[in-house]
Amino acid sequence: MRLNAVLEDLAAEAMQQALGLEERPAPLLRPTTDPARGDYQINGAMALAKRLGKKPRELAGPIAEAMRRCEAIATAEVAGPGFVNLTLAPTWLGAQLSQALAEPSLGVEPVASPQTIVVDFSSPNIAKQMHVGHLRSTILGWSIVKLLRAVGHRVIGDNHLGDWGTQFGLLIVGMRTWGDEAALQRDPIAELERVYKLASAKAKEDEEFAQSARDELAKLQSGDPANRAQWEAFVRATRATLDAVYERLGVEFDEWLGESAYHDALPGVVETLLARGIAREDQGAVAVFFGELDPSTIEGALPDAIPKKLAKSETPFIVRKRDGAFLYSTTDIATALYRKNTLKADCSVYVVGAPQALHFQQLFATVRLLGVDMALEHVSFGQVLGEDGKVLRTRAGKAVTLASLLDEAEAKARQVIEQQRQAGKLRIADDDLDRAARVIGIGAVKYADLMQNRTTDYRFDFDKMLAFTGNAGPYLQFNYARVRSIFDKGGLDFEQFVAPILPEAPEEQSLARELARFGDRVHLAAERYEPHHIAQHLYAVASEFSRFFTNCPVLKAEGATRDSRLALTALAGKQLRAGLDLLGIETLERM
Ligand code: ARG
Repeated sequence: MRLNAVLEDLAAEAMQQALGLEERPAPLLRPTTDPARGDYQINGAMALAKRLGKKPRELAGPIAEAMRRCEAIATAEVAGPGFVNLTLAPTWLGAQLSQALAEPSLGVEPVASPQTIVVDFSSPNIAKQMHVGHLRSTILGWSIVKLLRAVGHRVIGDNHLGDWGTQFGLLIVGMRTWGDEAALQRDPIAELERVYKLASAKAKEDEEFAQSARDELAKLQSGDPANRAQWEAFVRATRATLDAVYERLGVEFDEWLGESAYHDALPGVVETLLARGIAREDQGAVAVFFGELDPSTIEGALPDAIPKKLAKSETPFIVRKRDGAFLYSTTDIATALYRKNTLKADCSVYVVGAPQALHFQQLFATVRLLGVDMALEHVSFGQVLGEDGKVLRTRAGKAVTLASLLDEAEAKARQVIEQQRQAGKLRIADDDLDRAARVIGIGAVKYADLMQNRTTDYRFDFDKMLAFTGNAGPYLQFNYARVRSIFDKGGLDFEQFVAPILPEAPEEQSLARELARFGDRVHLAAERYEPHHIAQHLYAVASEFSRFFTNCPVLKAEGATRDSRLALTALAGKQLRAGLDLLGIETLERM
């Protein structure tokens, strides 16, 4: 159920009838933040009054009266200059919730027109360690994949690996000079990073060395078998390390179309840009100068291809360097064309940090100048900061690797679990300890990230994220397990339980109102690529559930009240599990 849409419809109909309008008016319905004002507010009378030349309160009166006749509405009161405050009828709400409980989707409806959406996420660079920046892209991207799927889109998750570029010339000559085969077997990424550092330092002071790196790169790019084999070995070694991290995070991709996949298409991209007058030569390089272009004179270009900001910016989008080399930009143009033409995508979403904002503005404009009619979204995010408020680093000042961060999260989770067990607050068996430490530790890291509005920077704080109270992953997991233990204790089947829900006590009604918003919040999170709406929902549900459970006996209640409370409990549990899953977080049945 999309409660907002249902109530909008009711309100529109009530307004139309009460005021005898020909067209369907816009009710401008909003959930209220202050419970004293009811659950929802209709604001539409204000705008309508202006148009009809009447006082808003004169219109609000009949609207409220018409709303009172709806089964869904308990009270409708005129307030302020002409608002209508609504409270929902608990019996109606209960009926909606019982129905949602019986559906596998928990009442989350699919969108009217499903699309094919490519989500480009994680996308680390080969021969380098994944660091915390990639953590955000990976965690966020995976949640966005799940959210879009939950509302019915066809989603292709694509890991656009940085597996093609100048670093490979340096790595090839570097490995010849300093490579240690045994080290490469043992810890491939560490060895590749070590050699890369040596090679790039040497290239800066030794022109001959730098030239040989460029030569090897050119050979690789023109298909030289020996260099090709070496490159493949680098990719394979890195893939093994990446796969291990993705497995720990429970993240999967549908495609692994890295930069190298588009190599053959790059010359054609530049030729097309030149032929259509989108790019031009400048001192031997080829670039797009947005300030000079007028989309209306470019054949096939989308009219609003160049946003104002870009038209004014001086920075060109270089697509071929003077030495003939192609760039990140060229690959991304080829990638966008492939997504549109071959994958038939309606939309391409890039989950990449804020520092690449200009790159994506330029990319999107270029692709639109090429006439590609596909929605393009840069889903940007802020940085992960250490407890000192600066970019997260190790004590030695190095970037924190993803693997070490996850190790620490699991180790810390294990400590916290031990403490809670000793305090008698958790009942996790010795045999389940490994799994619990992983589920709780990794879940805490994910939740701490996803509960934030993604555009803000946030501080990484293990103590806060591993809390069993307050807005943290373990608290939500714990509440899910609490629901499961109620059903265990009652000898009832959690998965199958359905009963009419009749919210009576205030705590039951508050919980019911929160649960009824699930569908709206899933859609909101999917539309805006903002998983934090799910996090907010789950925290609200867990808090309301705790209040309900403290004040309303469940197993000790009788008859229809007991069944109703059990059904509310089951729905809270199922939403917690489904919502955590949308964030890519696992749950434990017993804690
Ligand atoms: N490899 C890039 C990086 O680590 C991210 C790639 C993002 N995707 C894209 N299509 N540009 O910064």
